[in-house]
Amino acid sequence: MTQAPKSLPALEPVFLFPPHARLGVVCAMHEELSGVVSLLGGEACQVGGRDFWQASWHGVEVVAVLCRIGKVAAATTVSTLIHRFGITHVVFSGVAGGLARHVQVGDVVVARHFVQHDMDASPLFARFEVPLYGQSLFACDPFLSRALAQAGEQCLATLREQGQDSGFLAGLNLLPRAWTLHQGLIASGDQFIGSDSQRQAILKALPDVLAVEMEGAAVAQVCHDFGLPFAAVRIISDQADETAHVDFAQFIAQVAAPFGAAILEALVQSLARHAGEGERPQGASVDPS
Ligand code: ADE
Repeated sequence: MTQAPKSLPALEPVFLFPPHARLGVVCAMHEELSGVVSLLGGEACQVGGRDFWQASWHGVEVVAVLCRIGKVAAATTVSTLIHRFGITHVVFSGVAGGLARHVQVGDVVVARHFVQHDMDASPLFARFEVPLYGQSLFACDPFLSRALAQAGEQCLATLREQGQDSGFLAGLNLLPRAWTLHQGLIASGDQFIGSDSQRQAILKALPDVLAVEMEGAAVAQVCHDFGLPFAAVRIISDQADETAHVDFAQFIAQVAAPFGAAILEALVQSLARHAGEGERPQGASVDPS
């Protein structure tokens, strides 16, 4: 399990977390959520076929849930989080396929925007535009995203220091030293992208996409509807081509799950440090980075 490095300075106060905030933590796969639940503890309660784990994590009220795979499952789960559990902020953590060639297995991507690569109501609406919203891109919250990116950088630094000695890399032939954190556009769709032709088709239509997965754009749309700050982090598990299935399960269980949980823990510790320090700037939609 990755530990927050002792040598690094505390994260900068980039984000003022309100004192009564409640953070929803969402993962799509069992392995990913179990990494979080093992750190979080607490009791589960079931609503709408989902287990919701509620606990105070480093002093921050957290509700964690497994949404399952795909956009519909993600959207209904986040809607339940908002209406039954009163969450005020949402963070998604999971794996993704690296679409851009410079986004490699082991890299971390923090989303700035999401798009649905399988949304196409043309000719009634432009391709990728979500009908009746007048937009194709849904933005993440810049403050929460920056705190998440800092947590990701902190955990990557630890991993680089530990190198191959960090237990969970053993046997995977992966060297973490070059692992990089990217920030940018993530595409979601109800398809596992496992061939180079699928990968190229998305890149041709959406050249700025860094990574592809199956839930984030749906969560971004629900958070947009209810005005909730949302951020998402994805660890790259494959290159979204014919090799995508190779070692996928092993990578998730051994690397992505504990690493994702460590990033979330670093984020929550940072939010706890900045809880109640002041008010978030009104109507701030600029990127603070
Ligand atoms: N999640 C992880 N890898 C993926 C891929 N190649 N396509 C869609 N979702 C993914």
